[in-house]
Amino acid sequence: MKSKSLSLTLLTVTSIALLGACSGKQEAPERVVSFSKEVAPIIQKNCLECHMPNGPGEKASGLLMSSEEKPAEVNYDNLMKGTRFGSIIVPGDSTSSTLNRLVEGRADPSLRMPHGKEELSDADKLTLRLWVDQGAKNN
Ligand code: HEC
Repeated sequence: MKSKSLSLTLLTVTSIALLGACSGKQEAPERVVSFSKEVAPIIQKNCLECHMPNGPGEKASGLLMSSEEKPAEVNYDNLMKGTRFGSIIVPGDSTSSTLNRLVEGRADPSLRMPHGKEELSDADKLTLRLWVDQGAKNN
């Protein structure tokens, strides 16, 4: 009696584990992009020099990516504010987000970002794209 219920328990545990493994395989979970760990470092390295207070990009467009208090640190709220004409990020929609369009060279070539510099790697472009598509969260 005792050993029967034990093997039943084992069977149940095994089945649940197998089910879990199978459903995990069916749809590989999309990598969740972290703003602080992945997006901010890309912006810090490639964009801040011009989009910090009084940088040429900030002066020309109003797009401030850090803050007066911490000029060398990416600031999520200011990034989301965008230029003086409005937002450059449409959460959930990297196709129409100006940020992604410029970085990927989908707008006027004279506006490719980073301005006058080598374009971002494909990996960095993908990270920015996934982050926007996942809702552009402050995660
Ligand atoms: C070498 C300087 C420089 C760097 C580096 C740079 N930018 Fe810019 N950025 C500018 C300038 C200058 C403008 C204003 C362009 C204009 O209005 O003609 C601008 C404007 C923009 C705009 C607003 C465009 C619009 O709608 O008017 C976006 C968005 C932008 N930059 C994103 C980025 C991103 C993202 C990066 C980093 C990947 C970056 N920039 C790096 C100089 C730079």
